[in-house]
Amino acid sequence: AANKMDRDELLFSYKGILYPVTFCSPDVFRAMETLEVRSDDIILAGYPKTGTNWLGQILNDLVAIFEKKIQNKESSMNDEEQEFPYLEIGDAGKYERMNKLPSRRILFTHLLPENLPRSIFKNKAKILLLIRNPKDVATSFYYFSNGMSPLPSYETWDDFFIAFMTKKMPWGCYFEYLSKWNKYADDENVMTITYEELKENPVLGVKNIAAFFGISLTEKELQDVVERSSFQSMKKNSQKTHGTFGNVFFRKGGVSDWKNLFTEDQNEKMDKAFEERVGGTKLGIKLKY
Ligand code: A3P
Repeated sequence: AANKMDRDELLFSYKGILYPVTFCSPDVFRAMETLEVRSDDIILAGYPKTGTNWLGQILNDLVAIFEKKIQNKESSMNDEEQEFPYLEIGDAGKYERMNKLPSRRILFTHLLPENLPRSIFKNKAKILLLIRNPKDVATSFYYFSNGMSPLPSYETWDDFFIAFMTKKMPWGCYFEYLSKWNKYADDENVMTITYEELKENPVLGVKNIAAFFGISLTEKELQDVVERSSFQSMKKNSQKTHGTFGNVFFRKGGVSDWKNLFTEDQNEKMDKAFEERVGGTKLGIKLKY
């Protein structure tokens, strides 16, 4: 971590939110409006470290099953045609290429709703909103920041905690994320799932996700999707899917690891911030940690 660049060189600000220069650029944000979102697109919205790679595996698998059944084809795209699935990560030519891709497309994003292309809402694409206990998000983000060179690293957990609580994170503040997305929580095109509920009952979670996107599954297919998306399976496969960053993305995969990091004081501070920012909201209640 010692030879990493300063925070200020690694991040840039766009519309008041910080992003890593290695992954995003103002040009890409400006070009994003040209993306033509379709009503059958599958949108996965989740703040970093809420389990977006996990849900990505589930959604990819569901779409593969769907295409095989409905359109009787193996897979709509070969590897070269695949776009990096995160909407805001890539080059400015990305959206023109994506406009030519066949349905059903899966788009992942860490963005606030106000920074997404308007056609997502206008064309009524279905959005799966993934949320996770903020304490585990902070814990996961801390280890991730120190393991990923494009992100600022932190000497100590205490340093990270201050940054997390004072909105200095790439992709912005998680509490702001929750309060902004909360306005969409009741929309019929939005389904919310928590990391914790999916972890507790993955069969039910996958079943509900498939139903939401209109994908029917046999009992066997359901079991297979759950098995292939288990933490153990994904970790085992991570060298292939995530290269040298495999271990950084698939760390512990559990609930309540925050208890190994938070001091009593930090715990109280976060409870208080949570209560003030999202307590009593739909998403806040759903998180009930
Ligand atoms: P931890 O750091 O707590 O282990 P993202 O994919 O959004 O970057 O989120 C990463 C977090 O999701 C990590 O949390 C990671 O271990 C966890 N994760 C990844 N795959 C998972 C799976 N199949 N089941 C449960 N958790 C998973």
